[in-house]
Amino acid sequence: MRVSALSPSNSAGGLTILLLLLDFITPAATVKHENFKTCSQSGFCRRNRAFADHALTPESNWVSPYEIKENTVLLQNGILSAEILKTVPGQTEKVVLPLNINFQKNGAVRVTIDELKRTKGDIVLRGESKARKERYNEAERWALIPDWDVRDDKVVYDNQKGQITLTFGPELKYKAIVTVYPFNIKFERDGETHVVLNDRGLMNVEHWRAQPAEPEEGKEKSPEDLDGGWDETFGGNTDTKPRGPEAVSMDISFPGYDHVFGIPSHATSLSLKTTRGGEGAYEEPYRLYNADVFEYIVDSPMTLYGSIPFMQAHRKGSSVGVLWLNAAETWVDVVKEKKTKTDTKTHWVSESGQLDVWVFLGPTPQTLYKAYGELTGFTKMPPSFAIAYHQCRWNYVSEDDVKDVDRKFDKHDIPYDVIWLDIEYTDGKRYFTFDPLTFKEPEKMMKNIDKAERKVVLIIDPHIKNTENYPVVEELKSKDLAVKDKSGDIYEGWCWPGSSHWIDAFNPAAIEWWKSLFKFDRFKGTAKNTYIWNDMNEPSVFNGPETTMPKDNLHFGNWEHRDLHNLNGMTFMNATHQALEARDVGKGKTQRSFVLTRAFFAGAQRLGAMWTGDNEAKWEHLQASLPMLLSQGIAGFPFSGADVGGFFGNPSKELLTRWYQSGIWYPFFRAHAHIDAKRREPYLTGEPYTSIIRDAIRLRYALLPAWYTAFHRASKDGMPIIRPNFVAHPDDEEGFAIDDQAYIGDTGLLVKPVVGEGVDKVDIHLADDEIYYDYWTHKIYQGKGKKEYSAPLEKIPLLMRGGHIIPRRDRPRRSSGLMKHDPFTLVLVLNKRGHAMGWLYHDDGESFDYKQGAYIHRQFMYNGSRKTLSSRDLHKDRAAAETYKKAASALQIEKIVIVGASNSLDTSALAEGRSKAKAILVEDDNGKVKEWHASLGYTAAVDKDHGDVLVIKNAKLKIGNDWTIYLEQVGAEDKPKDEL
Ligand SMILES: *[C@@H]1O[C@H](CO)[C@@H](O)[C@H](O)[C@H]1NC(C)=O
Ligand SMILES: *[C@@H]1O[C@H](CO)[C@@H](O)[C@H](O)[C@H]1NC(C)=O
Repeated sequence: MRVSALSPSNSAGGLTILLLLLDFITPAATVKHENFKTCSQSGFCRRNRAFADHALTPESNWVSPYEIKENTVLLQNGILSAEILKTVPGQTEKVVLPLNINFQKNGAVRVTIDELKRTKGDIVLRGESKARKERYNEAERWALIPDWDVRDDKVVYDNQKGQITLTFGPELKYKAIVTVYPFNIKFERDGETHVVLNDRGLMNVEHWRAQPAEPEEGKEKSPEDLDGGWDETFGGNTDTKPRGPEAVSMDISFPGYDHVFGIPSHATSLSLKTTRGGEGAYEEPYRLYNADVFEYIVDSPMTLYGSIPFMQAHRKGSSVGVLWLNAAETWVDVVKEKKTKTDTKTHWVSESGQLDVWVFLGPTPQTLYKAYGELTGFTKMPPSFAIAYHQCRWNYVSEDDVKDVDRKFDKHDIPYDVIWLDIEYTDGKRYFTFDPLTFKEPEKMMKNIDKAERKVVLIIDPHIKNTENYPVVEELKSKDLAVKDKSGDIYEGWCWPGSSHWIDAFNPAAIEWWKSLFKFDRFKGTAKNTYIWNDMNEPSVFNGPETTMPKDNLHFGNWEHRDLHNLNGMTFMNATHQALEARDVGKGKTQRSFVLTRAFFAGAQRLGAMWTGDNEAKWEHLQASLPMLLSQGIAGFPFSGADVGGFFGNPSKELLTRWYQSGIWYPFFRAHAHIDAKRREPYLTGEPYTSIIRDAIRLRYALLPAWYTAFHRASKDGMPIIRPNFVAHPDDEEGFAIDDQAYIGDTGLLVKPVVGEGVDKVDIHLADDEIYYDYWTHKIYQGKGKKEYSAPLEKIPLLMRGGHIIPRRDRPRRSSGLMKHDPFTLVLVLNKRGHAMGWLYHDDGESFDYKQGAYIHRQFMYNGSRKTLSSRDLHKDRAAAETYKKAASALQIEKIVIVGASNSLDTSALAEGRSKAKAILVEDDNGKVKEWHASLGYTAAVDKDHGDVLVIKNAKLKIGNDWTIYLEQVGAEDKPKDEL
């Protein structure tokens, strides 16, 4: 057995035992590169890079061999269909490739190219394979939402001199110009070209061919005998490739665009690097092939656990994007060409499947993310506990251990919401069981945890132990719901339990069965507050090629694993998500699920959260986390986190503290540690660290209303929850590549975590001339460019941009559930002109009642010239709004903090203590004018470099009501009452 087969991954029970048995194994220091292919070790990648090299050599006088057969062109119901003909050297018969261009009402365009022979099943499989003969065409079934297809029926068609022009989209602003020979498509917006398919002629659809016979001695190989096209062996595993070579590739250019983003997950910079060598560039393409790459290295285009083939190109004034909808192993090369402007040129290669590419023409990041979300779905609205703090470790070893950790969090006044159990809770790695010795009374444990409204997350993986007397594996086999090997027998491989089988979640019947396993009377010991973590779902197979399944394995419908590998993790996550929402939690209600996944694909944002897998307790991994999570947000899957503290190894106290100060800004905030790592719950760190970490976690809790509001927005229009500079300030060219600072939703909060050892100051980039205040001292930072910010260990570099209103809840509690009746604070951060605006979304945080309108959605506006703060209803449905308002009538705004008050108000009298300032509620819900009793506190600015702060206490404003506060009197001498 190879070392890799036994190397530790996220959660390893068998590992310690295996290490004892096999003493030649040494723990891995870092990822085993040799276990994962480079492009040149992957036949189709090598071939297509060579193809590109040939095409791009001037001496080759390359002309792309694809042309549209003009008499086949037809525009009908928003779809342009035609046949593309591929000329094959030395062959008279041309290969027929059906082309469809689907125009969507929102302006998105889909280009699909298939292969006629394969669609008809008119090919001969090699060997005894039972695999399907077609190119895989079901990626859309899993990645896209069911009713995605909203056609544009107003496309205007024009065909002149070999150029078909299609005008389409909102207000007919977009054009697709299809050149018949050589085939390519230019996409224009406002008369400028933004995206070109097959610009450089690198399109290559490897048509079906029989494997040529070995050439006779001294004779040349047939050109149809493609290098690496047939049986291919890597690391002792042979892929039989029943359909022979079948890669699809296309080049996509973004003229005038200097930056491209997206295609997560890679431990790399947010702005993607070039990949064909040279200074600061990678030599390898970015790879998308979900894999268990433990202890991954940072600054690398190597594949990781999940993949989203969505790319955004951005320049001042424009954002456009593409989705390469293909779930097979995929590689993406990026090059930039600098002439007067920079053009970014990309080259996409997938091992199999249809060529299926979507183009989105923007023009802003917002419109781009919205169009992408209308296709693949928006982020699921999580249950509210899921955005609070999660405490995990491999492993909390017993019920007593869980109780002890729970008690110690309370003793040290550190809030947490969820305690996690890794694989050791099971009875010998049999999922759906508890270890009878260490977890004797799990139901009682769930109840105890529930006392503080806390939750338990259990790990359940897709590998099912192949053992006797285990009903789950018996049912998996008898119901025929497992993944098959190439000959159609049940596939057997190795994972944590040893010999295992894998559930095939592409099979709807498998999902139905999976649902039955989670019923409370079946999975004994679980309760309403039990949620699930799906790990190892790439899938990880210890003895498989590149630690995953053989590509010639078969799934439901006899699709090869090759075709759908990158979807595998998402379909399994879906099974668990479906199962959790099917549990009977009483009162006829459905409870929102929470599922954490390691593997994912486009669309997984509809199902739960992801994390970046097995990182290390090293500063460079802390540093790598923010760009990775920003990239997740760009690609529509913002509910993302990295293991706080680093999974492998032992962080120094400084690193752990800085990691918490960063981790509170991850949309998914969980600490985790490897079984060999020392205990590191925050109360163990000692002073001053424990207090600093407590403060950080409490800040996360105070800001939960802002986070929830940001999640709500992401669930509606796809705006990332944490946003890089270029999304918040799309015209700030200097800031396009910045990925070490982030804005939190629409709050104007700008954080730049400290990610270096011994670092006590950072440079924060300001994108505009607005006033920024230090969150802690209200010190003013102003002026475009870098600003130095002093950040000793206890300080998180955090600014508030003028012009925003931040909702908070300021009472520290043990969990977010215990905060649900707490009042809110509004922090108004006035801009230069004295204005501020913000939002609050609130619902019950657990059910789907919000879909029936049971929520509160407010816009707060402070008008600096009128000196009024008003709350406006954004609810779409008046009647439902009234109903929920009553239910939530006890919820109040308690405190209003106005930072930079003197930007709007004459505060001189307040500063001199001459005024008993007053705020007046001029209008309540019923339009009545009332005098209103609120006490005010004022803190003058310490100097001209700081903002002043006015605080309205005991505001007692109902959160669901319309009201306006009038601050005219603030600052004036106290006037007699009748003058008001
Ligand atoms: C999830 O499962 C349901 C029920 O079988 C199915 O309709 C849906 O297409 C699946 N979605 C994904 C993303 O796997
Ligand atoms: C603020 O109030 C002034 C004066 O009533 C008005 O002209 C202006 O439009 C208001 N500004 C906003 C942003 O509503």
